[in-house]
This record gives sequence, C-alpha cells and structure tokens, in this order.
Amino acid sequence: MDRRKVTLAELQQKKDRGEKITMMTAYDYPSAGLVDEAGIDTILVGDSLGMVMLGYDSTVPVTMDEMIHHCKAVRRAVRSSFIIGDMPFLSYQAGLDRAIENAGRFIKEAGCDAVKLEGGSEMAPVVKAIVRAGIPVCAHIGLTPQTATMLSGFKVQGKDAESARVQVRSAKDLEEAGAFMIVMECIPDLVAARITRELRIPTIGIGAGRDCDGQVLVYHDLVGLFARFTPKFVKQYVNLSPLIKEALAQYKSDVEKSKFPGPEHTFSMAPEEAEKI
Ligand code: KIV
Repeated sequence: MDRRKVTLAELQQKKDRGEKITMMTAYDYPSAGLVDEAGIDTILVGDSLGMVMLGYDSTVPVTMDEMIHHCKAVRRAVRSSFIIGDMPFLSYQAGLDRAIENAGRFIKEAGCDAVKLEGGSEMAPVVKAIVRAGIPVCAHIGLTPQTATMLSGFKVQGKDAESARVQVRSAKDLEEAGAFMIVMECIPDLVAARITRELRIPTIGIGAGRDCDGQVLVYHDLVGLFARFTPKFVKQYVNLSPLIKEALAQYKSDVEKSKFPGPEHTFSMAPEEAEKI
C-alpha cells in the first residue's frame, strides 16, 4: 500500500473529484496504528477521548495537556493519515493570542497536521487568526458537544428553516475565515447536503447524512468499546467488548487452575545448574 502522508491538497482534490473522504477518531498508539494501516485519510484525536478513554461525563473537563499527551501517542503510530488535534473547551475562546498559542502546541509539541475547533460564525475570527499563524483549521458546526448546555442538550441542530439558515451561514463564514474542512454533527441530511454543495471546502458528516464529502465516527463506537450510550448515527462494525470479556474470564480461570503459564511460556535452566544454587 502507498504509505505517503496525506496532504491538505489531496483532501481538497478528493472533494473536487467527488471521492469520499474518510475520517476516524483515534487516541492512542495501537488504535492510531490500526486506523492508519486501514488507509483512513484523516485521524481526529477528538476531545471525545474525555468520555471514551478518561471516563468523564462530557468533553468539557478535557485539558490541553490531556489532548497533547494523546496526540503525541497517535503521532508516533501514524505514517500516512492526516492528523487533526481537537482543541478542548476554553482553549480557544479566551482571546486570539491564547487560541494561537494552544493551536501551536498541537503542531509543535504533538506533531499534529491541523487543529479542529467547535462553533459557528462567532468563531470565524478565531479560525482566521489561527490560519494566519500558519495552522490549518477544521471547523465543527451543528451539535457542538463542548457547548451542549447552551444548545439545551445533545439535539439535532438546524431542524427548522431559521436554524438551518444559521448553520448554512456559519459554514460559509468559517470557509471565508480560512477553514480547510468542516465537520457537521447532527444536522438534517438536506441541510448538510446543501452546505456541501455550496462550499468549496470538504464537509465531513457525523449524523449529517450520506451527501457530505466524507464521514467520521468515534473509534470506540465503531468497534463496540463504549457502552454508556449509542447515538442514532453510530454504526457498530464489530462488538469487541464480549470478546475481550471472554478472553479475560478465560485468563482468570487459567491462572486460578494453574493452566497458565504453560511450558511454552516458561524459561528453564539446566538441572545441574539448579543444584548449585
Ligand atoms: O471529539 C470528537 O470525537 C469529535 C467527533 C465526534 C467529530 O468532535
């Protein structure tokens, strides 16, 4: 397989040619290696790691240091996929200088290729400032989990004409501000399709229908490693949890019955040497 690094230009060319773009979250060395080897175009080190890796109730508590720690592990595993680091809540809202500094940490310390941040038109000046500093930005509209309380919960956005217009306006403002790609989360398919048609840059959907330029899912949802809740947009491709539980039960039983370790897992020494101990 060709393992060259995916570039920004190639992602744009995929949209221009009508080819779908693939994105998957990954948060650690083993999962990132598998995603990269599968030939997925882009890896999102999402702040969803706060929930699926760290056990928080939401993405709100995730810190910059936690994000950088996980991004570094992903970077070490990846040869080809384009890596996007997700800016955590309040790392880009408290002033443009702070936003640029934090975005810079994803690139300089963690080796990411780009950053993602949540929000609509109101975030356009932040996107513009980070892009001006030389850092590619992926925007994120629709349901924005970091500010779900302001949206009155985890709800589909843009369901009526007025709020759909807000989503379309946001997408256009973020493109104008210099975003290279936009994630659209939980938006009716018709609205997402219209935004995808009207934007030059690629759109990536999660709960936004099949007409987006690409799709993203959370790794733990796809492989059945996160059971707390399952949004409607998730497709589970394999359910690893019961397989892992079964393996652990087998290991426990083998140890308790002295079946593990077997001779093939054991180091021996010559009996004459043992006698001299
Ligand atoms: O944090 C995340 O994983 C995300 C995706 C769900 C788009 O933002």
